[in-house]
Parts: sequence; structure tokens; C-alpha cells
Amino acid sequence: MQTIDLLRELSDAFGVSGFEDEVRDLVRTLVSPHVDEVVTDTLGNLFATRRSLNPGAKTLMLDAHLDEIGFIVKWIEKDGFLRFVPIGGWDPRIIPGHRVKIQTRSGEFQNGVIGTAPPHILSPEERKASLPIEKLFIDIGATSLEEAQEMGIRIGDPLTIHYPFMELTDGYVTGKAFDDRVGCAVLIEAAERTAGLDLGVNVVFAFVFGEEVGLRGARTAAFQIEPDLAIAVEGTIGADMPGVPDHSQPVRLGCGPAISVADRSIVVTRKVLTAMESIAEAADIPYQYKLPTYGGTDAGAIHLTRGGVLAGIVSVPCRYIHSPISTLRLSDFELTSRFVTELVKGLPDAVL
Ligand code: CO
Repeated sequence: MQTIDLLRELSDAFGVSGFEDEVRDLVRTLVSPHVDEVVTDTLGNLFATRRSLNPGAKTLMLDAHLDEIGFIVKWIEKDGFLRFVPIGGWDPRIIPGHRVKIQTRSGEFQNGVIGTAPPHILSPEERKASLPIEKLFIDIGATSLEEAQEMGIRIGDPLTIHYPFMELTDGYVTGKAFDDRVGCAVLIEAAERTAGLDLGVNVVFAFVFGEEVGLRGARTAAFQIEPDLAIAVEGTIGADMPGVPDHSQPVRLGCGPAISVADRSIVVTRKVLTAMESIAEAADIPYQYKLPTYGGTDAGAIHLTRGGVLAGIVSVPCRYIHSPISTLRLSDFELTSRFVTELVKGLPDAVL
């Protein structure tokens, strides 16, 4: 599949934390042709495994998270409006005034809008105040609680602000869920690019649930996989934009894959970091550092599993993550995909 179609399908798929079924099914279809075995575990991690013929082989784990931030329905008002709460880290300033897709118990989708009172009827003080999520509501067109229920809506239904994937210009694209569907896309491409090679290690491509609510899937995944080495692949905080000084831009678009030195969840072991730098340089892949110590990643949970796991992090720079309009350059994606492929081939030998 063409990269742009891969990103489109993955970003448009529904997968709020804890409700990753649709995106998991899509990933299973896309990755299966390139691996020996695909399994789903109890809580919803998907493991796509390629085994080495060598019985004593070590295990490399690649990690990307399936889930995206979203909301769940908290309450249905008597007049049919819905109250909702966030799942994952939203900026409350950007929630009002969007279209949403709500997934009902049957798996079907109901459209809605996050409404707000128009400025005409607000006092000057009200217009200046920010809107806490408790004051927001979703309008699905129902006129009563019963009508909302007849439309299939229940307390606990998940929803996303939905913006379909779009090309802004040639090579520059926007979508609702590049954090972390870009990581999923990188893993799928790395599996495809290394298919048929005997790498001398077992490779597990782990697509995990629940990162946005506390690295949950990565923890249970690493416990089962027992990796000797892991690489988490993320879409991370591109902040090269007006008003942000250079030293406060965690990563920049157009500068290639970002190698993490340390984030809030991990300080990367020096020999993993230097091996990653060497592999990028040997393959002539430009890279940048993700500035310490912004954000946390699945590597934080993975490296603390059992007796400890060597782990590194590679990210595709994305602007506007944790909003419904994340945006990236395909050239950065392409370089990250090549880099992760080189890491799959070379990192185990370099550090184990
Ligand atoms: Co993420």
C-alpha cells in the first residue's frame, strides 16, 4: 500500500483508548502478510511476530500504540443533549465547536456537534472566560433522553472529534490521530521491508492499547514478550511554529526522525542512544534529537518490565498532536520508516 493511503486509513480509523477494536482489525489486516504469526491478548494488544530459526535467539520488541485520545459519554440530559468527559490529555481550549463521531454499543456511529452558547447572548465577562468541559454538551439532534437512547446512545459510549485525513499540499498532510497511527504505519512498513530476512533475532511488532491513559498496554505487552531490547515509535511534539522559541521546540518538521535522549518516563541507556546515532549515520539518514524531557512514551513502561529492558525511542515529528488536526511531512515519515527498518536489522547486534 502507498504510504499516503496507509496513513489515511490508520488516522481515520476509530480507536479511543480502551475502544481500539476497529483500528486493531485494520492493523491485523495490514501487517499479517509480513509476519509469521499474529495474536491478540486479553486486554487488546496485537502482537505480530517473526521468529528466528535460531532456538537461542534474543527478542526485539517494536512498539506503537493503537489508541487515540477521545471522550466518553458521561450523562444524557432530559432534553437529549450529552455530557462528556475526556479520555487522555486534551487541551480544554480547543474542544468546543467541532463535529464528533460517537461509537454506540452496536459498533455503529452517531454524528454530533460540540455546541456552545453563541456570543450574542453572553455577557462581556462570559465571553472572556474559558469554557471548562463540564459546561460543554454534544447535540446529536435528539429532543429527549428516550430519543437519544433510541439512537443507541448509552453512558460510556466513546467518541472522537472527527476530521478526515487531508493533503494540505504535496507531501504535507493532516489527520485526527497521527499520535500514534504514524507509529503503527512505521511498524507496518518496517515489517514489510524486513519480510523474508533472517535477522538472527525474534522480532515482535507490538501494537498496544491504552498509551494515552497511562502506558497500560505497553506494560502488559512487555511482560508477555520478555524482550531483550525494545524500540518505541511515536508521533511527537513538532513545535516549530510562530511564537515558540527554538529551545522550547521538542522537535521540528522537515528534520527527519527524532531520537529521544530522555523524556519524563525514561533516560535512554547511553549504549542504545549511541548505537542508534551510529546506525542513522551509517545509513545516511538525517536525524534530530527530541529535546529532553518533554512527554512520556511506552518505552517508560517497557524498560521497567521484569529485570529491566534496554529501550530506545524514535519519533515522527507531528505538529498539533493532542488536537484533532495533527499534521506532518511525508518526507519525515519516509526517513523514519527507513531508519526503523535499519534499527530492526542492526540494533540488536550493536547492543546485545
Ligand atoms: Co502517543
